[in-house]
Amino acid sequence: MKETTISEAQQVKIATTENPVHQVIRERWSARSFSNQPITQQELDTIFEAASWAPSSMNEQPWMYVYATKGSPVFDAMWNTLMAGNQPWAKNAAVLIASLSRKNHMNTGAANKYNWYDVGSANQNLLLQAASMGILGHVMGGFRRSDAEQLIQLPEDMELVCFIALGHLAPAEELEEPFRSRELTPRNRNPLSTFVFQDKLL
Ligand SMILES: Cc1cc2nc3c(=O)[nH]c(=O)nc-3n(C[C@H](O)[C@H](O)[C@H](O)COP(=O)(O)O)c2cc1C
Repeated sequence: MKETTISEAQQVKIATTENPVHQVIRERWSARSFSNQPITQQELDTIFEAASWAPSSMNEQPWMYVYATKGSPVFDAMWNTLMAGNQPWAKNAAVLIASLSRKNHMNTGAANKYNWYDVGSANQNLLLQAASMGILGHVMGGFRRSDAEQLIQLPEDMELVCFIALGHLAPAEELEEPFRSRELTPRNRNPLSTFVFQDKLL
């Protein structure tokens, strides 16, 4: 990862993999420890463009992003809709993003059953591009939906999928508990044998 400021303690977050997984995938995690360093407009444009290069069903590109930078009234209003478990660390993010999805196909108006799938792909592109630039993100499903959707003035055919906090890293030691411990806990994943099956049916 370029320009990264992962502290020695935070090295525990880098995935230990059994196979040679790409570095940017190993070095992305859901960080909670954000520094005061702003994210530049160029960095944001790059991160959002990366999102747009995700695959989507029929190239529908059902994603939309509304974001606010720390210090703006919209940032504070977005932050206010987050659940109590997210507010203490998300307040330090440089940027809060609301990730939206269009539910129906633009041309026919028929339901697009892949819309959340596509938005998830775009969000993962966004997170990996950011991680490659030393900027970490944290997806949040913990928010008060009706308050947040009202705030964003969500059009009828759109849904709020999640919020994403983005920022440069600060040392985990600056976080209060229990978030400090979480920032220093190794990540783990289920072994391949539990979710990949070859030449046999479930
Ligand atoms: C849809 C979604 C919603 C999530 N919501 C929250 C949340 O509200 N608060 C939180 O702290 N983490 C949240 N997470 C982060 C997950 O807990 C995290 O991705 C998971 O524990 C794996 O950790 P890692 O991303 O560091 O590998 C969410 C992740 C996703 C994809």
